[in-house]
This record gives sequence, structure tokens and C-alpha cells, in this order.
Amino acid sequence: MNDILLKTLDGQLVERPPVWLMRQAGRILPQYRAVRSNMKSFKDLVKNPVKAAEVTIQPVDELGVDAAILFSDILVIPEAMGLDYNLVEKKGPMFPTTIQSWDDIAALIDGEEAALKLEYVYNAITETKDQLNDRVPLIGFTGAPWTLFCYMLEGEGSKTFSKARRFLYQHPEWSHKLLQKISATVAEYLKIQIEKGVDCVQIFDSWAGCLGTQQYHEFGLKYIRWILEQLPENTRTIVFSKGAHASMEELLDLPCKALGFDWQIEAEYIASQVNGQKVVQGNLDPCVLYADNEEIVRSTQRLLSVFKGGHIVNLGHGVYPDTPLSGVKKFVDEVKSFRY
Ligand code: CP3
Repeated sequence: MNDILLKTLDGQLVERPPVWLMRQAGRILPQYRAVRSNMKSFKDLVKNPVKAAEVTIQPVDELGVDAAILFSDILVIPEAMGLDYNLVEKKGPMFPTTIQSWDDIAALIDGEEAALKLEYVYNAITETKDQLNDRVPLIGFTGAPWTLFCYMLEGEGSKTFSKARRFLYQHPEWSHKLLQKISATVAEYLKIQIEKGVDCVQIFDSWAGCLGTQQYHEFGLKYIRWILEQLPENTRTIVFSKGAHASMEELLDLPCKALGFDWQIEAEYIASQVNGQKVVQGNLDPCVLYADNEEIVRSTQRLLSVFKGGHIVNLGHGVYPDTPLSGVKKFVDEVKSFRY
């Protein structure tokens, strides 16, 4: 197996850093669009373990990345808890009903009962591990409680997440109850993913940055910490809290192996703050990949030169759907030809 990702997460020496891209499965690959166009909907694809495995592996074949990330979505969790979603073309996720009241929260199922509804994800893991045949590790993932809370309150994406944030002030106890139920589900979900064979797990807290630090500690990080504490010892864990730089100290204190960072914070600053306490994942601006080859090489080399190890090369957020494949390949190839 190409295990440089796992070695890096375990703190072992490698000759170059591993590279993968958040949201590498789907979106940017013509092979993905071909599979997708033969399925009725995104959800049909997510719920079909053979097809999900196929698109999970496509970026490994096409881009030569050092890890596969399971093809699924963070929104399967609210669905398993009882909040159905749809993906509307060009608009993104939409929940026909949202959480408004204590009764809505009480009606959600949670914990193991909810996690067991995601059988199709576990089957996709088994199928993917089979088809991958140990070429590269498989990354499992979940949304973080706060980010899932945002969708469950808003019903869709938002620029301000003001419905979700207002709920924290108007109904702090209800908010905690909902975050507990989400966390209980996420913990069971990750435990089963690990049992089924994922080699590491990433927690995506995409909307961490819309909270002030005090609120992020109380309504975000507290639950991420609790989830991490439920996982088997030595689980390889990556926490990506987008926009949460102001909570650096608290992030460094989490019981995880790696922290993901977005591009709005300088790599040099990250390296100086983290100082070997965690593995660092990130943090090239996804927009660099639209630039010409010279700029892609320059930016990638600059990023590579900052870390002397303990680094997983990635973008600072998911790759954008219209990114030219040539740019993505240049980035991956540049990392793969680098040596410490
Ligand atoms: O590498 C991968 O793409 C693996 C699978 C993956 C998807 N979503 C597939 C997907 C992962 C890891 C996610 C995570 C996810 N989903 C996040 C966290 C990461 C981040 O980007 O911040 C969030 C916030 C979501 C919610 C979501 N799902 C949105 C906002 C959208 C619509 C816009 C978009 O990203 O395309 C989705 C749909 C979605 N999830 C698609 C894919 C491939 C596109 C749907 C399609 O192909 O029809």
C-alpha cells in the first residue's frame, strides 16, 4: 500500500508529504459526470455502493492522489435522524422541513438507531476497500455537529447562517440538546465506518468561521472533542474547522492527530503555532489551480518549503467544480516530485 498518509498521521518519517484534495471525488472529473448522468439523482449515486465505490476511486486513477475519500455527503446524517434533504441542481442542498421547536428536536432519532440507517454508506466502504485493493488508504468523513446544525436550522446554504446563530441566543438549551443528538449520531457513525475499514476519518466543520470564538468553543469544539473521545484509541483523525483560526489554542488541544487549515492563514504562521504538536493539512488557495502552470508550481513550492514533515498537502477548502483538470494535475504532480 502507498501508506505515506498513514505514516504521516502516525508521526513517522516519509520522503515527501502525501497529497489529496478535499472534494476530489466528483465535480471536477469527466468520468464522474458520466456516471452521474446515468443516475436519477445525486442521492441514488450515494446510496448505490458499487457506483459510489467507482467514483471514490476515480481520482486515485486519474490524479494519482495518495488517498481516496469516500463518495457520500455530510447531509446523510440529518437524513438518518429524520430530516430528509434534496439536492437541487445549481442551488445545492434543500431541506423541505427544518428544525423550529423543541418538539422537532425531540422527534429526531439519534445515536446508534440513526447511525444504523446508514447501511448504504457502510456497504460503500466495504465495496471501495475491495476495489481499492490496498492501493491507497480510504478516508471516511462526517460533518461536525455545528455545520450539520446550520443545515438543519437553515434548510439550505446561507451567507450569514443567521437562523442558526439566532437559535443559539434564543434557545441555548434546545441548541445544546440538538447538538448532543447530532454528536451521539456522528460518534456511532464514525465508529461503524472505522469498523468497516476506513483508514482515517475527517470531521468537516465547514461553517465554524461564522461563530465568534466563545460561541464556537461552547457550541462547536466542545462537541467535536466529545466525538473524538468516543472513538477507539489510535484512530487517525483530521479536524477541519474552516475559518476557526482565532481558536488556535483550543484546536491544538483537541485529541486529534491532524488539523486542517484554510488558505486565509499563512502557512508560516500555522507552522510556527502548531510547532509539531499536530500534523497540518492544507492549505493552498483552491483558486491557485486556475492560474498558469508557473504560478501553480510557485505557490505549491512555497507551501512545500514551509514544513519539514508532519504535513498533508491539500487545498484550503474543497476543489471548486469548474477547476481545470490540468491545474489539479500540475499541483498533484508537483507535490509528488518533491523530496524533503
Ligand atoms: O471528495 C468528495 O467530493 C467526497 C464526497 C463529498 C461530497 N460532499 C460529495 C458531493 C464530501 C466530502 C462532501 C462534504 C460536504 N458536503 C461538505 C463539507 C465540505 C465542504 O465543502 O465544506 C458540505 C458543506 C456539503 C454540503 C453540500 N453537498 C453542498 C453545499 C452541496 C452542493 C454544492 C456542491 O458542493 O456541489 C452538496 C452536493 C454534493 N456533495 C455534490 C457532491 C459530488 C454535488 C452533487 C452532484 O454531483 O449532483
